[in-house]
Amino acid sequence: MKIEEIETRDLEPDKFIEEKIAEITSSADNGRAVNALSGGVDSATVTMLGHKALGDGLKTYFIDHGLMRQDEPQQIVSLFKKLGVPVEIVDAQSEFFNALEGVADPEEKREAITHAFYEDVFGRLAKDSGVKCLLQGTIYTDIEETVAGVKRQHNILAQLGIDTEDSYGYKVIEPLIQLRKPAVRKVAKALGLPEEIYNRPPFPGPALSARVIGEVTPERVRLVRKATKVVEDELSHTEAFQYFAILHEDKVTGVRDGKRDYGFQIEVRCWDSQDAKTGSPTRLSYDILDRLAQRITSEVLGVVSVTYNITKKPPSTIEAV
Ligand code: XMP
Repeated sequence: MKIEEIETRDLEPDKFIEEKIAEITSSADNGRAVNALSGGVDSATVTMLGHKALGDGLKTYFIDHGLMRQDEPQQIVSLFKKLGVPVEIVDAQSEFFNALEGVADPEEKREAITHAFYEDVFGRLAKDSGVKCLLQGTIYTDIEETVAGVKRQHNILAQLGIDTEDSYGYKVIEPLIQLRKPAVRKVAKALGLPEEIYNRPPFPGPALSARVIGEVTPERVRLVRKATKVVEDELSHTEAFQYFAILHEDKVTGVRDGKRDYGFQIEVRCWDSQDAKTGSPTRLSYDILDRLAQRITSEVLGVVSVTYNITKKPPSTIEAV
C-alpha cells in the first residue's frame, strides 16, 4: 500500500490529533493496545495519542535493552509520570546482548535488534498481557530509507514483508507513518508535551548499538555511553539537528604518561539537517572541538583518538551503522 506523505506545511495538528485518536480507538483490540516508549519525540507522541484514545487501555513499556544513554530510563519514566502516563520498565538487557553477541555487520545488527524487539520482547509482552495490538511511532523517513535500501530501520516490518500477526501474534498501528520529523514535532507540541520532548534531538531505535562499530558488548556500550554524555554536555547549546559519539572497531597507537597506549578511537558527529534525509556537518568552532577531544580522552578510559566527521549526507549517513 502506497503511503502518502503529509507535508509539514499542510499539517493541521489539532485535526490530525482528532483523526488519529478516532483511528486508534477503532483499530485497537477491544480498546486495548501496548506500546514502547523510548522518550524520543516519535514514541512520546504515539504514547500521548494512544493515552488520549484508550486511557488505561494503553499499556506503555520502556524497554531497557541496556543500550540507552546515561540515566535515560528513569528520566523518561518520571517525566511521563508527571504527565499522568504510567510507564513500566521492562528489563530486557540479556535478550538484547545475547542477540547482538558476535554480530559485527551493520545490517545483521539491525536485524538482530528488530527480532529482539518484536519477536522476543514484544512477543512475550503481548502473550503475557493477551493484548494483540502494538502502537508504534514509525515515521515516513524510516520507511523511505528502508525501502530505498539505504539501511534497515529497526521498526520497519510490513514494508519488509513481515506479517506481524503471523510472525509475532499482534498487529501494528502506526499513526505517524505519513509524517516526517518536523511534522511530528508540531503534533507533539499540540499534544502538550514539554519542549524537552518536542524538540528532543532524534535518537535511533537501535540506540547505542547504532553507535558501536563492530560487535556490541556491554563494555563497548559503556564506553560509547560515557563519550555520548560528554558530546551532549558540550553540544546541547548548539542549534544542531543531532550530535553524538561513535566508538570505532579499530584501536590506534597513542601515548600516555610517556608510554605507548594502544587505545580506542571515538568519532564525533554533529549534523545540520531539516529531516535527516540530507545533512551537513555543523561548523563547530575549533575551541569546541578542542574541548571535546580534551574531555573525551581524559574522561573516557582508554580513548587515545577523537575525530570529527566532516562528510555530508549523502554519501555519509547520519548514523555510522
Ligand atoms: P541515517 O543514519 O539513516 O539516519 O542517515 C536518519 C535518521 O534516522 C535515525 N535512525 C533511526 N531511527 N530506527 C529509528 O527509529 C532506526 O533503526 C534508525 N536508524 C537511524 C537517525 O538517528 C537519523 O535521525
